[in-house]
Amino acid sequence: MSSEKVEVFVICAADSLEQSNAKAFRLSRINEAGESRPFSIVVIRTHANDYFGYVNSCPHERIWLNFGEGSFFTKDRAFLKCGRHGSIFEIDTGLCIEGPCKGKSLEPIALAVVDGDVCICGVKLEESGFVDPFDDGDDTMEIMIHPE
Ligand code: FES
Repeated sequence: MSSEKVEVFVICAADSLEQSNAKAFRLSRINEAGESRPFSIVVIRTHANDYFGYVNSCPHERIWLNFGEGSFFTKDRAFLKCGRHGSIFEIDTGLCIEGPCKGKSLEPIALAVVDGDVCICGVKLEESGFVDPFDDGDDTMEIMIHPE
């Protein structure tokens, strides 16, 4: 029996992201020492309406995937692509299948869709550092859920 709480933060409304699209968010994460650190993530909605989240950092040179033109995808949107040197990643696993970091993976982020919102789980975020363009002003930025 566990009374451990999982922290869940709302990132955006699930419908604010169109199918086969991705959106970057610049958040602040509280590390184990209690310090606030920049935390850039990308949330992807697939054509099948699945949501995947990764730290927005290419394993090759640790820069944003959407470096350059701002796009996260290959032309056919079947894969994620780094804008710097063109590494290609599977959307559902984050594994690089082609390019300079072939065999390495994007760092996954646990996401859940709760009541129509895409939420990030298990990461402590600094709420004051969070700017949500879709925030409607109600006080639902942080909720706590209890796993079984
Ligand atoms: S920085 Fe992404 S492929 Fe080089």
